[in-house]
Amino acid sequence: MTTLVTGGAGYIGSHTAKELARRGRKVVVLDNLSTGHRDFVRWGAFEEGDLADSVFLDRVFEKHGIDEVVHFAGFIAVGESVEKPDIYYRNNVSHTFTLLDAMVRHGVERIVFSSSASVYGEPETERLAEEHPLNPISPYAWSKRIIEQVLADYGTAYGLRSVSLRYFNAAGADPDAEVGERHRPETHLIPLVLEAAAGRRDCIKVFGTDYPTPDGTCLRDYIHVADLADAHVRALDHLADGRPSDVFNLGNGNGFSVREIIEVVREVTGLDVPVQEAPRRAGDTPALVSSPEKAGRVLGWHPQFEDVRSVVASAWNWHRRDWA
Ligand SMILES: NC(=O)c1ccc[n+]([C@@H]2O[C@H](COP(=O)([O-])OP(=O)(O)OC[C@H]3O[C@@H](n4cnc5c(N)ncnc54)[C@H](O)[C@@H]3O)[C@@H](O)[C@H]2O)c1
Repeated sequence: MTTLVTGGAGYIGSHTAKELARRGRKVVVLDNLSTGHRDFVRWGAFEEGDLADSVFLDRVFEKHGIDEVVHFAGFIAVGESVEKPDIYYRNNVSHTFTLLDAMVRHGVERIVFSSSASVYGEPETERLAEEHPLNPISPYAWSKRIIEQVLADYGTAYGLRSVSLRYFNAAGADPDAEVGERHRPETHLIPLVLEAAAGRRDCIKVFGTDYPTPDGTCLRDYIHVADLADAHVRALDHLADGRPSDVFNLGNGNGFSVREIIEVVREVTGLDVPVQEAPRRAGDTPALVSSPEKAGRVLGWHPQFEDVRSVVASAWNWHRRDWA
């Protein structure tokens, strides 16, 4: 089985490429290295190029005999998407059409898509299940919502089968520390707090300390990147077994506050973390926590890194190597 991994030089894509290779699939990474890293491509063949280039896509599909696709490629910063909706819709929506049309041309019928918990918008329930209404509030979240719909429509029209995976906060690094999280600029909490602990930034800013949560700071659901990688392989197997298109949350079902994460970083690193309290940021919801039961029931997926300490410890282990 040959799997095309778009965005496989990025954070979640590289971990998934490793897991796919470990479970015996042939991996082909397609990435334009706009935010990805050449040294993250260690499992499988590498095709450097852009999703927007249909001639390049035709060449890749023909050369490697692609059977299935995992589609990570895209831009990921919610705030930036508000400032530059054009580049987000173009890269995340238009260029996905180019990929889907190439799949149709080459008779490839199975795709797993990186969606996001941001499609839910403002939570109406304490934990978010897949049936929660979809109310995206940023161009980034809209780009995910739109592609979920496009996949359903391509299913009806062209027989494409898809699994959309709505990740909560991806975190942690490969337990062997062969690959990890390296976003530039970094916007995710755990690597930012680790940078503050290591003295690579002055402090960690805590935006909002008066939310209606136990300690006043925002609650998020952190899911280990190795658990995400495992879910992608299960989703591909689900489609390869002839099962229908579906949508799943990927989270661990527990919320951790910003203050709790800072405390865990202090424990794991043994270092002090300078903190600066700041006003709330526009668009931040007090709590975003998944109900991940459906993925357990249908895909047999159960997160292995439920303890947030193990998530932070794997990230710390990787960052120390990467910084060195
Ligand atoms: N990191 C998270 O917490 C999170 C949460 C929800 C959803 N997601 C989604 O998961 C996916 C992967 O996220 P990530 O954190 O690994 O991001 P990342 O930036 O590390 O990886 C994205 C990769 O896509 C590549 N890419 C972007 N546009 C491309 C194009 N036009 N052609 C070819 N390659 C292109 C980049 O070079 C990069 O390697 C994204 O679709 C993101 O929206 C991530």
